[in-house]
Amino acid sequence: MDCKAFVDQQVAEIGAAVGEGTAINALSGGVDSSVVTVLAHRTLGDRLKTFFVDSALMREGEPQQTVKTFADMGIPVQLVDARKEFLAALKGLTDPEQKRQAVTDTFYKTVFGRLVKEIGAKHLLHGTILTDIEETVAGIKRQHNILAQIGIDPEETYGYAVLEPLKTLRKDGVREVARDLGLPDKIAERIPFPGPALATRIVGEVTEERLATVRTATTIVEEELADSGAFQYLAVLLNDRATGIRENRREFGQIIVVRCIDSTDARQASVVQLPWEKLDRICRRITQIEGVNRCLYDLTPKPPATIEYV
Ligand code: XMP
Repeated sequence: MDCKAFVDQQVAEIGAAVGEGTAINALSGGVDSSVVTVLAHRTLGDRLKTFFVDSALMREGEPQQTVKTFADMGIPVQLVDARKEFLAALKGLTDPEQKRQAVTDTFYKTVFGRLVKEIGAKHLLHGTILTDIEETVAGIKRQHNILAQIGIDPEETYGYAVLEPLKTLRKDGVREVARDLGLPDKIAERIPFPGPALATRIVGEVTEERLATVRTATTIVEEELADSGAFQYLAVLLNDRATGIRENRREFGQIIVVRCIDSTDARQASVVQLPWEKLDRICRRITQIEGVNRCLYDLTPKPPATIEYV
């Protein structure tokens, strides 16, 4: 791909669409929304308003690190603290699809809908890629389209339009553009992380306490497997408990599952044969987390399993 031609074309198209107006976008720190942010900032400068929504579901230090990474590139990102709103929306929910819906609604309707109105933006930039569109059409994903997620016809209701500069690219193409734009490796080569974030890594109810447990386990797994070259690796908190022994006492504790998979597009996945010493080390670190006394390695490929548990 001719990255320079792609970037020039997108910059021209964003410029022509937004004109002298203001555009808004949400940055998650993943490669897609990062590339959109850089492209749009290049075109619009301070007429682009970029927000990082802290949903309480992010990984350790992720909101602050993402804001800093972009500040270092001269791109201001405003951190929006919506932790209480997300936790309230997820309270009591255990069904996977209801949890996803709660995260989607809180993000697009409650939080982002409010920001769009406050800013009065006429254009909204979104990091939709070709695979998102294909998966929506094939019924694998529910909706890729931010308009439908907001549940409105934005042109009619608010008078703003959605721009999707990456809609012709797949993930490898987005990574190529990311490198060409000079994004740091930690973003350009970042492993996939789902939109509903740690809510997809907790089987059962999402609470602050359970989030803290899975967040710590995620940090351990990501540290230990950073050099694995795998497509994706993750930690999941199960809803079951198991008896164990801590400080000579029986403890009915929590169970963390570790998953490390290879894949090209996440439609199929095989399990990585990690060295025993690595698995042993991960297990020892994870069972040091308060209340966790079991660590399991999942050997199931996709299919029949999916990558996430929720
Ligand atoms: P599954 O679990 O369906 O995951 O095998 C396939 C890929 O998609 C990611 N994933 C999601 N991404 N919203 C997202 O943006 C979601 O609700 C979601 N669920 C799963 C998963 O991490 C894997 O890379």
